[in-house]
Amino acid sequence: MNFQKLSLPIKFLGGLVFIGLAVSLIWLLLFKPELMSQKQQKEVGENTFIILPQPDKTGETSIEEAFLERRSVREYKDQALSLKDISQILWSAQGITAPRGGRTAPSAGALYPLEVYLIVRKAEDLKPAVYHYLPKEHKLRNILEGDISDKLTQAALEQTFIKEAPVNLVITAVFSRTTKKYGERGIRYVHMEAGHAAQNVYLQCQSLGLGTVTVGAFDDKEVSRILKLSEEETPLYIMPIGKK
Ligand SMILES: Cc1cc2nc3c(=O)[nH]c(=O)nc-3n(C[C@H](O)[C@H](O)[C@H](O)COP(=O)(O)O)c2cc1C
Repeated sequence: MNFQKLSLPIKFLGGLVFIGLAVSLIWLLLFKPELMSQKQQKEVGENTFIILPQPDKTGETSIEEAFLERRSVREYKDQALSLKDISQILWSAQGITAPRGGRTAPSAGALYPLEVYLIVRKAEDLKPAVYHYLPKEHKLRNILEGDISDKLTQAALEQTFIKEAPVNLVITAVFSRTTKKYGERGIRYVHMEAGHAAQNVYLQCQSLGLGTVTVGAFDDKEVSRILKLSEEETPLYIMPIGKK
């Protein structure tokens, strides 16, 4: 086809379509990377990053309804959790909510000793693996391959609902981040903070129609070994999560 011979309106229309396509592509790449990466996420290996969808800042459940309805749930449907729900839950636990780094849960001296891990057995667009939540980037880092929920159950005195849940959170703490400022008293601050983060997860799950429970009965050393935690990190809570 000879472009020179095309009439002016057709050339103009063609130009418009071309510009439209180029602008859409640039917009997708810049502002919607999660859409572009959904397929690739199934292929990722250890130490790769997963961009999470942006969390919603409004919901249909009032805070009072969430207080009223929240219960510890230990039975879950065998259904994959969506990446959107996972993103929302992680954000509720430790998401960044202020330009200077303020988070959804308070922290003594704003020292943020908590770390959150996601153990996936069954999730949309995430393969079974262990992921570390990076609040600043709102991303996941794949740190271990495969489904470890069976081992986690054994480490938690055979509380079988752990392996029945499609995903589990493990909240850990690096105590030294807080004790270097507050000394011995920092230990209690860190425990309090784990409670704040866990309550956020309870209420967020309630608002998403999901169930969870805080599990404190487990062998610390075993959980640390399974998750390959560093020496300075201590697991504080396991939270299985699934559809009620
Ligand atoms: C520090 C702490 C540790 C807990 N550990 C466990 C646990 O190991 N296993 C379990 O099934 N529930 C555990 N729970 C959940 C409690 O059993 C539950 O909160 C309690 O029965 C009250 O029920 P509700 O949460 O539905 O109000 C724990 C709760 C807290 C606060």
